Amino acid sequence: MSTKTTYINELEKFENQQATLKGWVYNKREGKSLVFIILRDGTGTCQCIVNQQDVNESVWNAATSLTQESSIIITGKVVEDERSANGYEMHVSDLQVVQIAQDYPITPKDHGIEFLMENRHLWLRSQRQWAIMRVRNEIIYAIHKFFQDRGFIQMDAPIFTGNAVEGTSTLFETNYFDEKAYLTQSGQLYGEAMAMAHGKIYTFGPTFRAEKSKTRRHLTEFWMIEPEVAFNDLDMNMSLAEEMMAFVIDRVLTRRVAELAMLDRDTTYLEKARKHGYPRITYTEAIDILTSDKMRLLLEEMETTRREEEPVLKTEMAEIEKEHGQAKKGRKLQIEKRLKEIRARLDEIEEDLRNIPVWRKSALEKQWGDDLGGSDETLLTMQFDTPIMVYGYPAEIKAFYMKRDPQNDKVALGVDMLAPEGYGEIIGGGQREESLQVLLDRIEEHQLPVEAFKWYLDLRKFGSVPHSGFGLGLERTVAWICGLKHVRETIPFPRMLGRLYP
Ligand code: 4AD
Ligand code: MG
Repeated sequence: MSTKTTYINELEKFENQQATLKGWVYNKREGKSLVFIILRDGTGTCQCIVNQQDVNESVWNAATSLTQESSIIITGKVVEDERSANGYEMHVSDLQVVQIAQDYPITPKDHGIEFLMENRHLWLRSQRQWAIMRVRNEIIYAIHKFFQDRGFIQMDAPIFTGNAVEGTSTLFETNYFDEKAYLTQSGQLYGEAMAMAHGKIYTFGPTFRAEKSKTRRHLTEFWMIEPEVAFNDLDMNMSLAEEMMAFVIDRVLTRRVAELAMLDRDTTYLEKARKHGYPRITYTEAIDILTSDKMRLLLEEMETTRREEEPVLKTEMAEIEKEHGQAKKGRKLQIEKRLKEIRARLDEIEEDLRNIPVWRKSALEKQWGDDLGGSDETLLTMQFDTPIMVYGYPAEIKAFYMKRDPQNDKVALGVDMLAPEGYGEIIGGGQREESLQVLLDRIEEHQLPVEAFKWYLDLRKFGSVPHSGFGLGLERTVAWICGLKHVRETIPFPRMLGRLYP
């Protein structure tokens, strides 16, 4: 008898009917005359129960021979089950093995991050990683929807480029038929040309930075979304950025409830960010906040609470470690889970206690003109519960193309959006300089090769207009929305300092 093949997320169409699923064994448990298979098929997981009494001997033998990640085709009756994640389970009548997997390296036990990164090609199959990629996909879709619904044209900037956009220190150089070419750091300059042709455009592509820093926010290859709009000023640019962000968050909160739950994401802050109207503060105000007495007190309090928390956790750890030996199976698992949590938190505390003096120095000694570092952004965002936009940076620390404030030549009309919960910069952008002469002066000041910018300068000769745009870092956005500590889990195959495989 042939039955219809379906996917786990469509099982409700087959309630009380026969259906066939194709997938992989996520987990297997054997009871007396029963085998419980957790099948995953890419759309979700489903418990499939093989009862020795209901199947012939070869099916039973196949079921008992299954190993983690073996590929199978399985047929049975779809039955409603309240306890299961997707509401259904399958009572198996037939099972066909496609391939038996041998010694799958990622087992349910704990693995270190290095091991998991080495096995990224397999790690992608595990539930947390699966959930992250589904959120990433939702974010990508929401971004396209936001811009497409508003009449933006998506256009693609080249990846091989002759010019530096964001400074020369992070360029990847390649040999382009014996000519030097660089992997793009940003599509912005091309985006400006495209905006003069289409009014409002966005690019969505990979960008590359030879970042020598090994931090939780830096990749060497990441995806950037860069809208560029003719006739938009800084204010309109900020409105566009926050409307986009609120739209994206609202979509994820509406459509990826299950995935966020799988990631144990506390959505309190995300809920506040689903409406726009984020605070806008000037760089000068940001400096005032960082150097304030309130900041000094906050840092002291951070240090004190961490110092108090440490011994409490250590006592609990010692107690439950002692209990573990005699505990029953269920309680044992509970204890192991809690121990894992405590160890992670203790690592965090230790790291914070090491960092706080550095953060303190950086924040309290900040002077107008200094750039904001990662820890400054973290401390700043801790004062707010939604994303914030910091604008009006010192021109000296910003790129050559940024327009200066007509009221104050020291200030550039740039804006960064900083995500709350310590995440920091997820967007950088601003209003562009539209005067040919000013741009020529800037290019000279920044000691950039004017020849390479000839085409870019043409945009200021032929119908130059005020215009603005920004770049959203996709991976940093995914990290924040999913509540991840590090960007390495936000992209299928991360590229970072020291990581080129798999
Ligand atoms: O602030 P950035 O450097 O801005 C630009 O490249 C502008 N040309 C964009 C524009 O105005 N069209 O980068 C923009 C965003 C950052 O806010 C951050 O989210 C992300 O790109 N980003 C990185 N993400 C991961 N790893 C890195 N090394 C990143 N560098 C920047
Ligand atoms: Mg930036």
